[in-house]
Amino acid sequence: MEEKRFVYLDYNATTPLREEVAEEMIKYLNVGNPSSPHWSGREAKSALDSAREKIAELIEADIHEIIFNSGATEGNNTVIKGIVFYEMKKGRTPFIISTKVEHSSVLRPLEFAREMGAKVELIGVDSYGLPDPDDFRKAIKKNGKPSLISVMLVNNETGVIMPVEEIAKIAKENDVLFHTDIVQGVGKVRINLKEIGADFAVFSGHKIYGPKGIGVLFIRKQTPLEPLLHGGKQEDGLRAGTQNVSGAVGIAKALELCENEREEEMRRLRKIQRIFEEMILEIDGTKINGHPEFRIPTTSNVLFKGIEGETLLMALDLEGIAVSIGSACSAESKTPSHVLMAMGLSQEEAQSSIRFSFGLFTKEDDIYYTVEKIKKIVSRLRR
Ligand SMILES: Cc1ncc(COP(=O)(O)O)c(C=O)c1O
Repeated sequence: MEEKRFVYLDYNATTPLREEVAEEMIKYLNVGNPSSPHWSGREAKSALDSAREKIAELIEADIHEIIFNSGATEGNNTVIKGIVFYEMKKGRTPFIISTKVEHSSVLRPLEFAREMGAKVELIGVDSYGLPDPDDFRKAIKKNGKPSLISVMLVNNETGVIMPVEEIAKIAKENDVLFHTDIVQGVGKVRINLKEIGADFAVFSGHKIYGPKGIGVLFIRKQTPLEPLLHGGKQEDGLRAGTQNVSGAVGIAKALELCENEREEEMRRLRKIQRIFEEMILEIDGTKINGHPEFRIPTTSNVLFKGIEGETLLMALDLEGIAVSIGSACSAESKTPSHVLMAMGLSQEEAQSSIRFSFGLFTKEDDIYYTVEKIKKIVSRLRR
């Protein structure tokens, strides 16, 4: 019997842990508490410090600006709630401007902020998934100076690269703090937080072939923020709790590998994406959701007109091919993608769209295999 083939095309949901990363992490699974003032604690602290230095260097930040936490969900919650609590403590009404296509770990805290009495304005996007920076200027003119502007660097569902530098510039011109969720951009596009002009940025280890449950929150020096977790004085008092030392070692190693290989790897994946999209567009009623140019090489969101995305996903799963509908976090809720709806797709079109995301172990051959299976399934479903 032919062995079942497994193809993983869901790198935006999570990436496999790289062997080189696991090898580094194993050395630090059994270490002391980095806050302990003895040899065991010093060993752990030294590993943590080295990881912090490596990350700071790679994203052009200062070591004091790197906070380890559990991941981007925590990071986004910390920034948004931290600003809301800070403003409220000062007796002011928080006002945050963001976009309609952010990840749920930004949108849900914003909903919470609204319930707490904050003002929230969400900027829409065009049919390519891009917000117009001018809309941020207009929102400031209409509502006054916000406490924070938050815009993701790369959209997780479409791979669209957002004009964050331009929006951050508008934030700076108005003396407003700027936050960016860089989860889907790290390792794929060049990250220089100084150039972007970000005051806050977040990413997760498991999206860059590192471990799950570890993330980095960048906070520009002396930026006011109320911590989400209160307790010990770890992470400059901004994130209480004993640090995940092996996780920190892992995310630093993963980032280093991604950055060293980024340009060559993205060239390789751009070719894979081109082949995939050319072949997919040969199928009747298909369309790529997202901008043709401002898009990372690792994400293709495809509309299959008249086909239920859920059915296609399950049929592909039976063939050993892993893909997703929208983001992994909203997969269970079965609601149509808020990102695609914001881009003007109908509910039916949004539910007929599938996200394919490529990565380190994706080979050209996987693409031929996948498209061949899709063609067969689509023609069967359309019969
Ligand atoms: C853009 C974006 N932000 C935040 C997150 C949340 O990351 P985590 O689940 O690691 O907290 C994700 C995960 O899919 C994401 O894609």
